[in-house]
Amino acid sequence: MIFTVAIDGPAAAGKGTISKAVAAHFGFAHLDTGLLYRAVGAKVLAGADPVAAAKALDPVDLENDSLRTPQVAEAASEVAVIPDVRAALVAFQKTFARRDGGAVLDGRDIGTVICPDAEVKLFVTASAECRAERRWQELRGRGMAVELENVIADVKARDERDSSRATAPLVAAADAVVIDTSDLSIDQAVAEAVAVISDKMK
Ligand code: DC
Repeated sequence: MIFTVAIDGPAAAGKGTISKAVAAHFGFAHLDTGLLYRAVGAKVLAGADPVAAAKALDPVDLENDSLRTPQVAEAASEVAVIPDVRAALVAFQKTFARRDGGAVLDGRDIGTVICPDAEVKLFVTASAECRAERRWQELRGRGMAVELENVIADVKARDERDSSRATAPLVAAADAVVIDTSDLSIDQAVAEAVAVISDKMK
């Protein structure tokens, strides 16, 4: 069965949590496409050329815990504006989306550019303050000493760059179902996503 669920939205809106939960619920494979840009960003921080790093990216590069730092997130957002970096990552994502057995991809441009024909498109969002607070809690939980004000500033700067870039900006597809998680628990947000997907599978 070929069935693609595209989940887009800004940083720390809950895309990752919802994507993992719905993939587990329906038995679909899951690809966090932010990891592709993070892996390229990490290589650039280590001195590589962004386009060469994107072309040479290997799936094992995604299995690296050090990709989850604010520095790598920032580098990811910077390499993500480069059209040739994005182009180098398209084929892998498209192939993943159409694999047999169903796939969930989360990112910024899945419903608009990578999978415009996805069976389901969700746009998961939340207020910037709410997202920054969640990211701050997450970073603190991992033992990183960061100031909330700095996290809010980082989240807003990353939103601005991701939304205003010329190639594949962060924007909801016209046919995406919007889920605002600001006032939802994780369980409520997942239930809403599952309900939308179940409806489209009928
Ligand atoms: O989802 P994330 O925070 O891991 O993504 C890191 C950066 O990668 C994000 O700021 C923008 C970029 N990105 C993108 O441009 N397109 C995607 N499909 C996923 C991520």
